[in-house]
Amino acid sequence: MLQFDTIAGLRQQLKSIRSAQSIGLVPTMGALHEGHATLLEAARQENEVVVSSIFVNPVQFNNADDLARYPRTLETDYKLLEGAGCDLVFVPSVPEMYADSPLLRLNFGALETTMEGAFRPGHFNGVGIVVAKLFNIVQPDRAYFGQKDLQQVAVIRRLTKELSFPVELIRCPTIREADGLALSSRNRNLTATEREQAPLLFRALTQSHQMLAGGHSTVQAKNAVQTLFANSPAFTLEYVEVVNADTLQLADEMLAPGQTAICLAAHLGKVRLIDNLVF
Ligand code: PAF
Repeated sequence: MLQFDTIAGLRQQLKSIRSAQSIGLVPTMGALHEGHATLLEAARQENEVVVSSIFVNPVQFNNADDLARYPRTLETDYKLLEGAGCDLVFVPSVPEMYADSPLLRLNFGALETTMEGAFRPGHFNGVGIVVAKLFNIVQPDRAYFGQKDLQQVAVIRRLTKELSFPVELIRCPTIREADGLALSSRNRNLTATEREQAPLLFRALTQSHQMLAGGHSTVQAKNAVQTLFANSPAFTLEYVEVVNADTLQLADEMLAPGQTAICLAAHLGKVRLIDNLVF
């Protein structure tokens, strides 16, 4: 696997191999886990060349503490990437990506007034800027994102469409531990006790899914989640919403198969966890 830390170096290499070969991009912020491995596997299967990026993007953090605590595990990340058959990894410094702080502001309107957007002001502006830069730098044919960040996928889909990036977006399923906890780089920051408590998010999602499937209203399903968290003092529930998985519009009832998503975010100690189910 070749490593690059400059845009010019990476572009030169990509230019020499682009010709007729398709390029799959897996953008990451590092602290890689099996969830990332499945994105890389999908990219490996569908493209001749697999490029990944590791960049803890300061512009998408609205909380300095969260940025400082974001896990950084470069050496093990390289091993996972090698094992997953990644061909090139781009690991730029902050000045390489942002010679000046970006003046550009992206506003995703209704896509970012709910859920993550409402609780992390400016987050999707930062995600949109870095993803647009990575699309321009790498010029991939396909880009791979995990369903765990469902709202991020919706925002990037819109960005790709509005700016006409010739990139096919692939949403890959969430990978879970045996007890249901969705894999996330942030799980590393959980204490042993918190790790045992963390599957409550998945339990809440499955319970509310069963309620909806059994004919209960979205209000009843959301109330049940709120009660579950109210009875679990280790957690502070931030939001629970039932939405259209693509448009993120609030849903009053179950939509067509594959269209309904129930999404939630909760704080457990110092760690903020998010998860969702699409059904
Ligand atoms: O999902 C992530 O890890 C990040 O938000 C992304 C897409 C790599 C942009 O920094």
